[in-house]
Amino acid sequence: MHITGRLAAAVIGCRLLSALSSSRLRSTMAEPVVFNKPKIELHVHLDGAIRVQTILDVAERRGITLPGKTVEEMTSVIIVKEPATLTKFLGKFAEYMHVIAGDREAIKRIAYEFVEDKAKEGVIYVEVRYSPHFLANTKVDPIPWQQEEGDLSPDEVVRLVNEGLRQGERAFNIKARSILCCMRHMPSWSMDIIELCKTYRHQGVVAIDLAGDESLNCEAFPGHRMAYEEAVRCGIHRTVHAGEVGPPSVVKEAVEVLKAERVGHGYRTLQDQALYKQLLAQNMHFEICPISSKLTGACDPDFTKHPVITFRNDQANYSLNTDDPLIFNSTLNLDYNTAHKYMGFTEEEFKRLNIKSAESCFLPEEEKRELLQKLYKAYGMTRSTVF
Ligand SMILES: *[C@@H]1O[C@H](CO)[C@@H](O)[C@H](O)[C@H]1NC(C)=O
Ligand SMILES: *[C@@H]1O[C@H](CO)[C@@H](O)[C@H](O)[C@H]1NC(C)=O
Ligand SMILES: [Zn+2]
Repeated sequence: MHITGRLAAAVIGCRLLSALSSSRLRSTMAEPVVFNKPKIELHVHLDGAIRVQTILDVAERRGITLPGKTVEEMTSVIIVKEPATLTKFLGKFAEYMHVIAGDREAIKRIAYEFVEDKAKEGVIYVEVRYSPHFLANTKVDPIPWQQEEGDLSPDEVVRLVNEGLRQGERAFNIKARSILCCMRHMPSWSMDIIELCKTYRHQGVVAIDLAGDESLNCEAFPGHRMAYEEAVRCGIHRTVHAGEVGPPSVVKEAVEVLKAERVGHGYRTLQDQALYKQLLAQNMHFEICPISSKLTGACDPDFTKHPVITFRNDQANYSLNTDDPLIFNSTLNLDYNTAHKYMGFTEEEFKRLNIKSAESCFLPEEEKRELLQKLYKAYGMTRSTVF
């Protein structure tokens, strides 16, 4: 941006700050906030972003005994503190998913509270993802988390989440949409997922995702490929977790076979320079999750060597996201602080990547334009000064 643009940004920034001083952007968290401006988040799991207090409340109401009785105790059971393996990380969900799954009130509540938490972080638009099957206890095979069979189907789970998100949007004045996840180890669920995406595409569901163990590729599991083909046919947006711990070939498959429009993580793309150059040229969007990538063992724990530094230096199209703030005991601001402190991210870059995130979001064109206008205004930019 030019000097004049920067001055204008400073002036508008000040006005914005005073206008917002009493509002949600004033964080109550202990850590300093390096980018206290409206943000976009595109990669965060609903079931990895639950309040610990809510888990305790619901467990008490349902008479479920947990290994911790207080927020502190339960937090230390759930969180991953040191770089772990993906298996260990995935095991963390088993500590609490049985409390929330199958419970209508709890599912609506976690969606509502999620929106409140995002609003507090200064997020103005979020796409939150989850597997409806993991929260159901009927019409799902096998029934997850060792629940007894009940009467809550994946379809009703989606309706409950939609409702919780919508109530949260109204209460906290931000926009929240959802992405439904297929699971790599459960290809038989994937056709349900695409049908749910189609049914609820005008009620908050914007895309399909594929999550889980990347060693299970799609050659061997045609269920995912068929679901993604149907998504293409119906104009349902597509993202895929790929190249987080899996090799660049998983990224290639995501883009070429599943026709992903965004890549979840994608760090290992850098191991195949030809593929990386091709995706850069295509303006492929990478959903980067810094703290997550350290604690799952996906990336070198030394943040100064993080792949996102290469993405930034190449002015790639990417976003910064939390992934699973419950399990990493993190917040979006902590991810931004990390990028600032260890990777030299500047205010200008934070603005740029949020503009890219908005451009890459799965809203309809008209709403996307509105969202971009909001960001330009908040960042003190006019269209002509945009990167
Ligand atoms: C979780 O994060 C909070 C805020 O950064 C910190 O005060 C707390 O000690 C952390 N909890 C654990 C168990 O590490
Ligand atoms: C960034 O990537 C997304 C998804 O591929 C795309 O829709 C968007 O247009 C890209 N942004 C730019 C500026 O090309
Ligand atoms: Zn993820």
